[in-house]
Amino acid sequence: EKGGYDYFMLKEIAEQPKAVADTLLGRIDPSGSLTLDEVRISPSELREVDKVVIVACGTAFHAGLIAKYAIEHWTRIPCEVELASEFRYRDPILDGRSLVIAISQSGETMDTLMALRHAREQGSKVLAICNTNGSTIPRESDAVLYTHAGPEVAVASTKAFLTQLVACYLVALYLGQVRGTKWGDEVHAVIKDLSRISDEVERVLETMEPVRALARTLAAKNTVLFLGRHVGYPVALEGALKLKELAYMHAEGFAAGELKHGPIALIEEDLPVVVVVPSPRGRSLLHDKIVSNIQEIRARGARTIVIAEEGDETVVPYADHLIRIPATPTLLQPLVATVPLQVFACELATARGNEVDQPRNLAKSVTVE
Ligand code: F6R
Repeated sequence: EKGGYDYFMLKEIAEQPKAVADTLLGRIDPSGSLTLDEVRISPSELREVDKVVIVACGTAFHAGLIAKYAIEHWTRIPCEVELASEFRYRDPILDGRSLVIAISQSGETMDTLMALRHAREQGSKVLAICNTNGSTIPRESDAVLYTHAGPEVAVASTKAFLTQLVACYLVALYLGQVRGTKWGDEVHAVIKDLSRISDEVERVLETMEPVRALARTLAAKNTVLFLGRHVGYPVALEGALKLKELAYMHAEGFAAGELKHGPIALIEEDLPVVVVVPSPRGRSLLHDKIVSNIQEIRARGARTIVIAEEGDETVVPYADHLIRIPATPTLLQPLVATVPLQVFACELATARGNEVDQPRNLAKSVTVE
């Protein structure tokens, strides 16, 4: 049932192009607009929404952090993202005009369920983004957008994450469409880019051998750091989470701009630091800032592992290891930038002799608070 792979995780990583395509299937009509039939919150209600609040845990929370950038950019609706386990304890400000999005692969995560119950008690509408048909979270929500990733067996989430991102982008674009905000050329272009993204993920998967080889050389390390800016920051957090849970290594993700406010003190000779570099096109300021961050850490001895777009030559002098990803609009880049980090963590776990599909102390769905 592992389809010839040693682990479910490898199989699920490989299934990502199909999973991403399945999540898009039937949701973009030939005219390039979106039909999200399952979102049973009326367009007039969606036009009233004055705040989006995303609640989720772990990897799903990272998808939510990325969704915030897309939602705010395409819809101009303020969006907050909160760990579900923190949400209801701080008496969050919610009312009938807040749209709460609960993201969960399993649909059974107790923290997320309790957060959405709390939101509904305050009169907010809840939209679930979920991978498991008929599970508790979609049943208790006002509407659900299923991710169609297929069953995810490995404890570490991979294809569910990519499809959660796709679902979040669809929701953001749909909100933009319904409300007429920023519904212009850019959004149409994004929909086109999204329909090509499955092929880009496939291309990334075809180039992963050097990433595996690199991972094996790092098996004896104690720490790996991850840096990113903008949507690359949650990608860094996700890369670090994968490494913690699979390789049992100390791993941390930082916003690259925060380095100088403390974490740069951690940099020492030969410390592996993975840096997610945004596209040099469009947001070039962002790109240039991260290139100087790479220079700063390298000057202090870090071993830089740079994930950058094909054709971006500015990073070459500062990259001890260079991992290329296809050129993608910045907001969509997490769909391709996360894949090497999944492969990296999986290979490191294997090299360290860990059980990839069943990491110690973890369960696939966490049904206690
Ligand atoms: C990490 C991982 C967990 C889950 C989290 C939420 O690889 O799998 O962090 O993402 O427990 O689970 P769901 O999405 O089922 O609510």
